[in-house]
Amino acid sequence: MRLIFLGPPGAGKGTQAQRIADALNIVQLSTGEMLRTAVAEGTEVGKKAKPIMERGDLVPDDIVVGIIDERFGAPDCANGFILDGFPRNTAQAEALDKVLAARDLQLDHVVELKVDDEALVERITGRFTCENCGEGYHDKFKRPVKPGICDRCGHRKFSRRADDNEQTVRSRLEVYHRETAPLLAYYSAQSKLKSVDGMADMDDVTAQIKAILGAP
Ligand code: AP5
Ligand code: MG
Ligand code: ZN
Repeated sequence: MRLIFLGPPGAGKGTQAQRIADALNIVQLSTGEMLRTAVAEGTEVGKKAKPIMERGDLVPDDIVVGIIDERFGAPDCANGFILDGFPRNTAQAEALDKVLAARDLQLDHVVELKVDDEALVERITGRFTCENCGEGYHDKFKRPVKPGICDRCGHRKFSRRADDNEQTVRSRLEVYHRETAPLLAYYSAQSKLKSVDGMADMDDVTAQIKAILGAP
């Protein structure tokens, strides 16, 4: 199964991609995560991406397309993947079509997570993540069962993203509406687009996505 999860910042792409990838035994490919790793490691790509991400702008297309193309060649992608945060503009979507065609692969579905803008700021400013396993949490919507301890791996250190402040969130939202939202029409024209109500609670959203995929 090869999928794209599309939606504004904070829509729940990462949360749902992790769950569906586990359930279907496929991989989650988040360009945002890959870029944050590059920033943390101080690679050339990371140095270039850091100030751009802090502003909430898009990193140049050639960088993200290169990262994704290389990733498709890895053995863990053989069973399928979920693209989380890629493509993000029409040029990236066209590049993706070419990269897939060159590898003789097809997309199965593009899943749109629909969420109101006002809810996104609250979701993003309350988000934190386990530093060890990457499990996502929220101050209000998903606290660890035992305070201060990751449910998934037992680790005790969490972090918040540098771009998760209200000002950067507003620019990320603007960028989404300007650059990424046109992809809804792009994939609708390819009859690939399916939409879910991302305002529902997390388990409900997972169930809606599984229904589209015909997954148990
Ligand atoms: P990226 O990491 O992709 O960030 P984003 O698109 O802004 O999306 P987020 O990760 O913020 O949100 P999400 O939809 O994953 O939500 P989550 O599940 O965490 O990109 C970051 C930056 O990298 C970009 O700004 C850009 O600079 C660069 N970049 C990345 N890809 C690029 C590309 N292709 N081209 C160019 N540049 C690129 O959920 C959010 C919170 O809400 C969590 O706390 C969660 O617990 C909670 N939550 C989730 N679902 C629900 C629910 N149903 N109800 C209540 N709370 C919920
Ligand atoms: Mg994410
Ligand atoms: Zn953990």
